[in-house]
Amino acid sequence: MQIDTTIFAHPTIIQGGMGVAISNWRLARAVSQLGQLGVVSGTGLDNVMIRRLQDGDKNGYVRMALEEFPNQALVKTALEKYFVANEKKHAYKVASLPSSLGAMGTDFLSVLAAFVEVWLAKQGHNGMVGINLLTKIQTHTLPTLYGALLANVDYVLMGAGIPRDIPDVLEKLSLGGPATLKLEVSGALQGESFTLEFDPNEIQAAPRLLTRPYFLPIIASNVLATMLARKCSTGISGFIVEMPSAGGHNAPPRGEVHLDGLGQPIYGTRDEVDLVQLKALGYPFWLAGGTGSPQALQTALKQGATGIQVGTLFAYAQESGFAPELKQAVLEQIQTNAIRIFTDPRASPTGFPFKVVEVPNTLSENTVFATRARVCDLGYLREAYRLEDGSIGFRCASEPVTTYLKKGGKLEDTIGRKCLCNALMASADYPQTRGKSLEPALVTSGDELLHMNDFLKQYGANYTATDVVQYLLPVE
Ligand SMILES: Cc1cc2nc3c(=O)[nH]c(=O)nc-3n(C[C@H](O)[C@H](O)[C@H](O)COP(=O)(O)O)c2cc1C
Repeated sequence: MQIDTTIFAHPTIIQGGMGVAISNWRLARAVSQLGQLGVVSGTGLDNVMIRRLQDGDKNGYVRMALEEFPNQALVKTALEKYFVANEKKHAYKVASLPSSLGAMGTDFLSVLAAFVEVWLAKQGHNGMVGINLLTKIQTHTLPTLYGALLANVDYVLMGAGIPRDIPDVLEKLSLGGPATLKLEVSGALQGESFTLEFDPNEIQAAPRLLTRPYFLPIIASNVLATMLARKCSTGISGFIVEMPSAGGHNAPPRGEVHLDGLGQPIYGTRDEVDLVQLKALGYPFWLAGGTGSPQALQTALKQGATGIQVGTLFAYAQESGFAPELKQAVLEQIQTNAIRIFTDPRASPTGFPFKVVEVPNTLSENTVFATRARVCDLGYLREAYRLEDGSIGFRCASEPVTTYLKKGGKLEDTIGRKCLCNALMASADYPQTRGKSLEPALVTSGDELLHMNDFLKQYGANYTATDVVQYLLPVE
């Protein structure tokens, strides 16, 4: 069952999903209340939720949402293990890493956490809410999607990879049946395939029918859009076209990668999406990456877009999840024209370029990076690899080098790799304790930061999501 398009028009503004927990339920809710699309980040939600619980869940919102979850036995298990009534003074417990295929393990935490995030974002209004997932993070996709569906999510948005299986997954999960996802396994033999499985019956007996949300793949090339439109024509509701100026991960340049004098990937005309060709596919589309201005919105509409997806401008709004001191530091740098952004081709273990804002005392500084001991305990960006006996293991290019090499990884792949999992948890104000210190943060944002000063002069540094929407939308 798909949402009735005759009742709901697609939104003009999509507030882009921003992980980890930067586009949290508060930000998404604020945007959705205004009739635009608020999108919660679905990345790392299991650990985000249990860290909120370990921090005492001060306003009780996580527990309020959990009370609405259909299987209270699972809620009880999670609360007994992770809820701490007083403010945390110790290292966080982490959700255990998936280590085999087919086992439920801690999948239920991802289900609960996605349910909580979407449920909270939907409170107090009739607007629509989306969830954003990174295709590269394979192990958590199925349970996260199911949790979001249980909370009646309206849109699913997925980039950083080719989300070819997702329309089928959404269909199966909405019908309450088991769903599978092909797991990319490095070193898999010809003809060998590995699948992740998730069965809603393990979450609740006789799962009810759920509404299938709109699905918007995030693309950076006509080739990918055309391929997805051909392979899953009925399962796609439109495209987000993301340019390399966008925050977070960027699609790598096409062909051989050349770096500029600073070491950033160079993009050229081959990386531009031909919008006329895209439009001919017949789907609505939104332009993302440097489109956070009323002028860019008007240009996008003239080019046939339904609207824009904006991240950076929303990322520094009052409601967003950035740790307050990081938000303040970046806003001050913008106001003093001291902002620097580096598109780092090495930082992300995914191998995709990742936009890094240069902020003192964060992993953008070489000294901070060099002094951090490599630890991999969150593991979202691990790749699956084939072991000699045909089973699979998981490795991450930012884990301790010797461990990675023992797992058959290559030394050159470890160079410059940063633990985005721990760093992004820290940037959302959930830093893990390591001995006497805390995990350092890493801030990502789009090139839009370089042009945000005029906006700040108009709205001030304490602006809200409402200010952003009012700024972007033409006055009727
Ligand atoms: C802090 C931050 C985190 C982001 N994280 C993600 C993410 O987890 N997944 C994703 O698909 N896009 C992510 N993005 C990209 C946004 O969803 C959006 O497409 C992009 O920011 C639009 O370009 P703009 O930054 O110029 O507005 C992120 C952007 C920012 C600023």
